[in-house]
Formats: sequence, structure tokens, C-alpha cells
Amino acid sequence: MDKESKYQELIEQAEALVSGETDEIANMANVAALLHESFGFWWTGFYRVAGDELVLGPFQGPVACTRIPFGRGVCGTAWEKDETIIVPNVHEFIGHIACSSASKSEIVVPVHRNGEVTGVLDIDSAEYSTFDETDRLYLERVVSFLY
Ligand code: SME
Repeated sequence: MDKESKYQELIEQAEALVSGETDEIANMANVAALLHESFGFWWTGFYRVAGDELVLGPFQGPVACTRIPFGRGVCGTAWEKDETIIVPNVHEFIGHIACSSASKSEIVVPVHRNGEVTGVLDIDSAEYSTFDETDRLYLERVVSFLY
């Protein structure tokens, strides 16, 4: 199945999983698990805004850094710019925070509530250039279901 068809299936599952549940942690946990299992990413999870930092939220994969300051790393930059960031090669992203040496490419998608960034979805791949505009399109849709 190609990536687009996989996402189309996943979008329906994600919407069904989170509809009727208002707890953001529960929804983030299920969405992280769904994405991680469907695509076999290296690390899939959320960081939530807490003051001037991001704090580790529900995730699947190896242990990760717990706190990321505003504007730091790929996650803090996506928060600051309020836009999705695709990194084909993490070694070329200045300021990249390496939670795992196995991570080679990454996508970070801001999560919004009432127009404010309340967190980010961060996905790491153990291969280079895993993420493209298709991932951006569908992942932005997936995070819009969270609340
Ligand atoms: N690489 C991220 C840090 C989080 S871990 O990848 C799970 C960053 O540069 O913000």
C-alpha cells in the first residue's frame, strides 16, 4: 500500500479513536501508537507546551529528552515558527537535539488549540529523507483531531 492510501486509512481510524474522548493525553497516546505501528517509525510522540519549554508527552519508541526550550532543536523551532518542519537529514539541521543516534530524519508538526500552539508531534525515522509533503498534509490533519 502506498503512503497516501496508508494515511487515508489511518485518518479514519484516528478520527474514530479520538472522537468522543476529550482527554488530550489519552488522545495523544492513541494517535502516537497508531502512527508508530502503521509506519514503523523509530520514535513517534508528543511534546506539550509548559511555560517556556516543551515537556515530553505520550510517545512510542526509545526513551527521549524530557524538556526542550522554546526555539531550540527541531521541536522548539517548529513551536517558535508555528509551522511544520521537515528535516531530511538531522545531521544538517543546526541545533538538532539528538535524543537517539539512530535518528536520521524527522518531521515536527505543531498542535493547536484555539489558535495557540499547545504542543508538537515529533516523528523520527532511522532512514534519511523519510518525510515529505504527503506526511505534512496528513499529519497536520491528524493533530487537528486531538481536542
Ligand atoms: N530531535 C528533536 C528532539 C526530540 S527527539 O527527537 C525525540 C529536536 O531536535 O527537537
